[in-house]
Amino acid sequence: MAGRARGSARVLLAQLLALALALLALDHGDWDAAALLPPLPPREEAARVARFVAHLCDWGALATISTVQAVRGRPFANVFSLSDGPPGAGSGVPYFYLSPLQLSVGDLQENPYASLTMSLAQTDFCRKHGFDPQSPLCAHIMLSGSVTKVNETEMDFAKHSLFTRHPEMKTWPSDHNWFVAKLNITNIWVLDYYGGAKIVTPAEYYNVTFQ
Ligand SMILES: *[C@@H]1O[C@H](CO)[C@@H](O)[C@H](O)[C@H]1NC(C)=O
Ligand SMILES: *[C@@H]1O[C@H](CO)[C@@H](O)[C@H](O)[C@H]1NC(C)=O
Ligand SMILES: *[C@@H]1O[C@H](CO)[C@@H](O)[C@H](O)[C@H]1NC(C)=O
Repeated sequence: MAGRARGSARVLLAQLLALALALLALDHGDWDAAALLPPLPPREEAARVARFVAHLCDWGALATISTVQAVRGRPFANVFSLSDGPPGAGSGVPYFYLSPLQLSVGDLQENPYASLTMSLAQTDFCRKHGFDPQSPLCAHIMLSGSVTKVNETEMDFAKHSLFTRHPEMKTWPSDHNWFVAKLNITNIWVLDYYGGAKIVTPAEYYNVTFQ
């Protein structure tokens, strides 16, 4: 009994220490998602897993339909920094900071439909557990929808979400005409276990709340 009490006191102490470290990291405006990785939600709760992945990833691969002459009409994937909210306050909405000078943004001006992939392979999670990035155990999500500009109502939250997790965005060259955009999600696939991708609706996805 005494041993168990000591054990749980140690666990509590470790949790408090982790929390203190997390708060310390927040104070400095940078967030090492990998170092502070919270546990994966139960895999049968696919909507929660999707929100978890969307919140932990700082970037994703966005596929558009190319307008570049050489590959016109073909799928084109590119890396984008993103954020769905400040650490611990994810909204599920992937926000981007885009410039018309980017190849993919040219595509989006002609056809706003895009799909976005994010994977826990981008964190320490899969490496730590020895999961290959293509393994479904290395949880990843595919979001499909259209990329739209963020309006004034959402602007403060979107900018705060991006700039807290990507501080250098503030210093990106102003002559690139950066604007804040988001993926308006219409379809969600979650690969977090064997047996094929699970489908989650946007309503289920946005309904998830984290404590
Ligand atoms: C801005 O976008 C949000 C989220 O899509 C929406 O709920 C709100 O009605 C929009 N506001 C305006 C002024 O268009
Ligand atoms: C988001 O997508 C839905 C479904 O395609 C569409 O009805 C809605 O107008 C879109 N919202 C914005 C802000 O583009
Ligand atoms: C939203 O969450 C509540 C509480 O967990 C649940 O009862 C409800 O079925 C959920 N709705 C959707 C659309 O997922």
